[in-house]
Amino acid sequence: MSVVIAIDGTAACGKGTIAKLLARHYRFAHLDSGALYRLVALGVLEARGDPSNPAQAIASARRIDTSAIDDPRLRSALVGEASSQVAAVPDVRAAILDFQRQFGAYPPGEARGAVIDGRDIGTVICPNATAKLFVDARPEVRARRRWLELQAQNANPPDIATIEGELRVRDARDRSRPVAPLLQAEDAVLLDTSDLDIEAAFAKALELVNPSVEKALAARPRG
Ligand code: CDP
Repeated sequence: MSVVIAIDGTAACGKGTIAKLLARHYRFAHLDSGALYRLVALGVLEARGDPSNPAQAIASARRIDTSAIDDPRLRSALVGEASSQVAAVPDVRAAILDFQRQFGAYPPGEARGAVIDGRDIGTVICPNATAKLFVDARPEVRARRRWLELQAQNANPPDIATIEGELRVRDARDRSRPVAPLLQAEDAVLLDTSDLDIEAAFAKALELVNPSVEKALAARPRG
């Protein structure tokens, strides 16, 4: 059994950064599950389709190339908004469910564990995860972080208020969809990063997951 750390949370709350740092710390494999929905969305947009059309979203989900998960085009605000539209379609979610579960059960590179971040990892994808975090931050803090992130890659991001509006729309859609809504699992621990910088958020996350992770690693058969 591999060790799985499930990290869910709202848009731009810092879960991806925390996930990456935890993966590096434990030498676990990391999967940004949001990038899979972004890939589905990019597929629709590249074909000049409509991300709110379920049939187009499903067709794209069935042909995504997961090796393109680091494509920088996935990070645009347009793809972010479209990703939350395609993510509300149950057959889109079904098409990428096995990939995520396999990643958790058999992490690539023979890693001893996986860190997976998203919206439904602790609730649907890996309900038996070793440790679960639910990360959040105040919307204005998240908007500012996303603005800085977009500014670092793109000369002309929308203003912070526009970004905050987009994040709120996306969170509301993610929370209210009938299938796999954004939700804190009963056994997940809440981590609010509003007043924490990256190092402090990582330190807190490590403190929260480490007892369960160490215990699970110690219980693994050697070899
Ligand atoms: O980076 P950010 O938090 O803005 O978003 P993301 O994690 O890349 O996720 C993009 C979108 O994919 C979200 O708004 C969700 O609608 C969807 N998603 C999901 O439904 N389930 C997941 N496990 C991960 C992402």
